Amino acid sequence: MNPFKQMIAENIAESLEHQSAQEIMQWIEKPPNSDLGDYAFPCFKLSKALRKAPQSIALEISEAIKKDDVFLKTEAIGGYLNFYFNRKKLAEKVLSEVINRKEKFASSNEGAGKTICIDFSAPNIAKPFHVGHLRSTVIGSSLYKIYSHMGYECVGINHLGDWGTQFGKVIVAYKNWGNQERIEKEPIQGLLDLYVKFHDESEKTPELEDEAREWFVKMEKGDKEALSLWKWFSEETIKELKKIYSLLGVRFDHYTGESFYNDKMKPILDELHQKNLLEDSQGAVLVNLESYNMPPCLVQKKDGSTLYATRDITAAIYRKNTFDFTKCLYLTDYSQNLHFAQWFKVIELMGYEWAADLEHVPFGRVTHEGKRIQSRKGTVVLLEEVIEGAIERVFNIIEEKNPELPNKKEVAVDVGVGAVIFNDLSHNRIKDISFSWDTAFSFDGETGPYVQYTHARAVSVLRKAGIDLEEKTFQIEGSYLEDEVSNQVIRQLETFEDAIRDAMNKNEPSILTRHVVDLAQSFNRFYHDHPILVDDAKVKETRLALVVSVKEVLHLGLSLLGIKAPDRM
Ligand code: ARG
Repeated sequence: MNPFKQMIAENIAESLEHQSAQEIMQWIEKPPNSDLGDYAFPCFKLSKALRKAPQSIALEISEAIKKDDVFLKTEAIGGYLNFYFNRKKLAEKVLSEVINRKEKFASSNEGAGKTICIDFSAPNIAKPFHVGHLRSTVIGSSLYKIYSHMGYECVGINHLGDWGTQFGKVIVAYKNWGNQERIEKEPIQGLLDLYVKFHDESEKTPELEDEAREWFVKMEKGDKEALSLWKWFSEETIKELKKIYSLLGVRFDHYTGESFYNDKMKPILDELHQKNLLEDSQGAVLVNLESYNMPPCLVQKKDGSTLYATRDITAAIYRKNTFDFTKCLYLTDYSQNLHFAQWFKVIELMGYEWAADLEHVPFGRVTHEGKRIQSRKGTVVLLEEVIEGAIERVFNIIEEKNPELPNKKEVAVDVGVGAVIFNDLSHNRIKDISFSWDTAFSFDGETGPYVQYTHARAVSVLRKAGIDLEEKTFQIEGSYLEDEVSNQVIRQLETFEDAIRDAMNKNEPSILTRHVVDLAQSFNRFYHDHPILVDDAKVKETRLALVVSVKEVLHLGLSLLGIKAPDRM
C-alpha cells in the first residue's frame, strides 16, 4: 500500500464509525491540480449513510482527524476533504524509503501464499512467430514480474501450439517438397515456407486437405512416422524459440504445449459425458451453449480428433490440480474472445467454482503497414527480423554518437530489445497497433531508449560525484526539495507503488510505462533546473539522494517491464 494514502485512510476510518480503511482507501483521489490538495477524500459517498451534507462531513472529519506531520494541513472544500503534504517531510520520507529498500521498493507481500498462472507467448509451431506473438510474450512477461513484486508465486506457462491440424499440412508438404537441411538450419522459416506452399498447392489440389487431416488423425492415434516428424519439427523449433526468448530476457517455468495434454483429454471427455454436457452433432461432439447466447463449443470432430478448446479445458483442470492457482491468466489477441468465453463456460458447467478465476487478458492486433499479419499468405514480419533490426539500428547510432563506449555490442542489445519491448508495452493493451520501423525505434519522446538514457544520466552523475552506493548513507534535508520541480519528482516516486498496483489490477503494463516516462521527464526537468554537484555540501547531498532514488526507481520500473537499464549508453 502507498503508506501515505494508507495513513489518510486509517485516520479517516478512525474518525468514522462504519467504514473500513480499505474501503476509504479506494475512494481517495489524486486531484489533477495540487491547489486542491495532494490527495482528496470525496465525502459524497458517505452523505446518504450519515444523512449529512458532504460539506459538513468533510468539516467534521477534518476536525476529528489525527494529523501526521507529513501533512501540512487538511481543508474541507465543497464536499471534499483535501490533504496537503508537508513537502519537506514528504521528500525525506520518500527518499529514505527508496534508498533503504532499493529493488524491493514499492514491493509487498500481499500475494504471499497465492499462485498466479500466466499462460503467455504460445506461438504455433510450423506457423510463424510474428510480432503479434511478441505482444503476448512481453505483456505476459511483464505481468509475471509485476505480480511477483507484489508477493505472488507466478507460474509462467508456454502453451505452445505444438499440436493440431497444421502438423498434418506440414507433414504433407514436407513429404512432397521438403528438405531436411533447410529445417535444421532455419526451422521456423523453413516450416513456415512449407505451410505457405501447402496453402498455395491445396488451392489447386483440394485433396491435399484430406491428406493433411488424415496425417493429423494418425498423429493422434500414435502413428510412428507421423509422430517422429512432429517431434523433430517441434524440437528444432523450440531450440530456435529459446534463442529468441533469451534475447528478449523472457523465461518460462513450463513448456507444456498443447501436445502435453494429448493423453489427458480422454478422461476429461468422459467426465463431460458423465456430467451430461455432451451432444452429438452428425458425429461430432459438442457442448451446447445456446442458453448462454454462444455457439456450441466443439470438443471432438467427426474423425475423432480433438480441438484447441478440448486441450484448453484439459489444461485448465490439470493446472488447477497441479498449481492450485488463485488466478490463471491467458494472453492472446481479442480475436479469441469467444473461444475463451466458450470454454470458460464449459468449466463452469462442469461444476468447477474456480471457473471464475480463469481470466482472458485480450490485447489488440498488430498490423504491419496497414495489413493484418497472417501466416497463410506469408506476409509476416518475423520477430527475429524485428529484434535484429532494432539491435543493428542502435548499434549504428552508438557508432556515430558514442564510438568510445566500451561494451557497444551489449548495450546495443539492451537498448534495441528495450525499444521493441517498451514500444509494445506503451500502448493500451486492447488497442490495435500498427507496427512500423520508424516509430518503434524513435529515440526521443516517450520511448524505452529515452528512459534508459535518463537512467544512464543519473548513473553518470553519481559516478562523477564518486559515490559508492553500497557504502553511502545520505543526510537528506527535505527543505531543499520543496520547489515545484523537485516536488514533482518526489510525488512520482511516492505514487510509483500505485502505478504498479494499478497495472497489476488491470493487467495493464502500459500504466507502468506511462509512470516511468513521467518520472524520467520530471527528473530531466530537475536535472536541467538544479545543478547537483554544487559546493554547498548539504544541498549537494540532498540532491544526490534524489538522483540515487530516481536511478533506483527507473531501474526497477524498467525491470518490471522486462527491460535492462545499462549504466552507460
Ligand atoms: N497458440 C495460440 C495462438 O497462437 C495461443 C495459445 C494461447 N493459450 C491458450 N491456452 N489457448 O493463437
